[in-house]
Amino acid sequence: MSKTAELSIDGKTYSLPIYTGSENEVAIDISKLRDQSGVVTLDPGYKNTGATTSAITYLDGDNGILRYRGYSIEELAEKSTFIEVAYLLIFGELPGKDQLQRFRDDIKTHTLVHEDVKKILDGFPSTAHPMGVLASLFCSQTAFYPESLDPNRASEGVYMSIIRSMAKMPTFAAWAYKNALGHPVNYPDNQLEYCARFLKMMFALPAEPYAADPVISDAMDKLLILHADHEQNCSTSTVRMVGSSQASIYSSISAGINALWGPLHGGANQEVIIMLENIVKDGGNIDKWIAKAKDKNDPFRLMGFGHRVYKNFDPRAKIIKKAADDVLAKLGVKDPILDVAKKLEDIALRDSYFIERKLYPNVDFYSGIIYRALGIPVEMFTVMFAIGRLPGWIAQWKEMRENKEPIGRPRQIYTGQKERKYIDISKR
Ligand code: ACO
Repeated sequence: MSKTAELSIDGKTYSLPIYTGSENEVAIDISKLRDQSGVVTLDPGYKNTGATTSAITYLDGDNGILRYRGYSIEELAEKSTFIEVAYLLIFGELPGKDQLQRFRDDIKTHTLVHEDVKKILDGFPSTAHPMGVLASLFCSQTAFYPESLDPNRASEGVYMSIIRSMAKMPTFAAWAYKNALGHPVNYPDNQLEYCARFLKMMFALPAEPYAADPVISDAMDKLLILHADHEQNCSTSTVRMVGSSQASIYSSISAGINALWGPLHGGANQEVIIMLENIVKDGGNIDKWIAKAKDKNDPFRLMGFGHRVYKNFDPRAKIIKKAADDVLAKLGVKDPILDVAKKLEDIALRDSYFIERKLYPNVDFYSGIIYRALGIPVEMFTVMFAIGRLPGWIAQWKEMRENKEPIGRPRQIYTGQKERKYIDISKR
């Protein structure tokens, strides 16, 4: 017999179905509650609301577990590649050798972007933040591939949009950076694999040979795997919400890029570095900054600390902390902000304010330090996150479409004025 929950409102009892996920997560299905009782639920920030069922990513915040399609993030980060993980997320299973080869080749075939994209890029001043440029270039693909506007296309058409998204993202990202520098753009070199190709577009200068250090492209690949999906976070929920109106994949993902941009989400990796640099400039007085973070009259928060879901540790942060040590050692980089970051973590983890609120370093605390060691400029950190998150956004958009989910449209509780009479301007 299926389980139910009982809810009593003004002496009347309603029976609500209970939904159990494959990892025994339990949810009360309130989708019919308003029809039955006229009552809605209120949950600002969706802190306790499951907006969908999903078979892509499993996250257990209390126990620090993250799995893509059932595979642990630790194992994937150690043994897999970003392109393989992208295939896994999007299509549901690890690819066979031929499937992986085809996926890789298809992506390589579509890395070039239409030359007219350059005209759009030229319209941006070099002061434009690369995230804004990236979101715009991504959305512009609806114009170059108008067939993508048809939400009911055959699956081959959807496949092409997926391939184009994966293929062109690094090109757009590197071009957004070149625009900020005022430098000419580089075209994709398809002899290279995904990360090395991106790094060449980012860093190669005209008439100078460039080859990415394999230590750098491998580290980038690992970082992309760690960022590839994270179930219903702010940007992913945005992608699903926009996609639920049957908007195209390009406009849905462009919306996700904009959502990721904010400092409380993907923008945090940039903010972490700015914060650590400020602490170093300030003489390394960590206690002072911890006190600021705890002071409720001070808007400062310890960036890279705390997470809506992880209340024990963020498993990605553990992997990244170790990777930061490895990468900096391999590259022979000594960065004073790494020492400050470690001391800050150490002190915060022993402080009752952070312990009581279950605030731990999140994925962004150490990722910025690695990006810095790889030579990625700080304004590009969130763009790197977007490159990594792309397969997750695609997988979630595809799942939402395939499940034929209804348009996203939350309710509200109105707290404004009751009906009143219009007052003529002469009497106000
Ligand atoms: N520094 C100081 N205090 C904090 C921090 C922080 N980084 N994070 C949370 N708190 C405090 C809050 O002030 C609040 O205290 P109170 O109970 O005394 O009022 C309590 O901890 C709970 O915080 P909320 O903001 O309610 O937690 P929420 O789940 O809404 O927010 C968030 C999570 C946005 C990540 C928050 O921890 C934060 O702002 N962190 C810093 C920004 C950051 O690193 N973002 C990246 C997140 S990971 C990602 O998006 C990839």
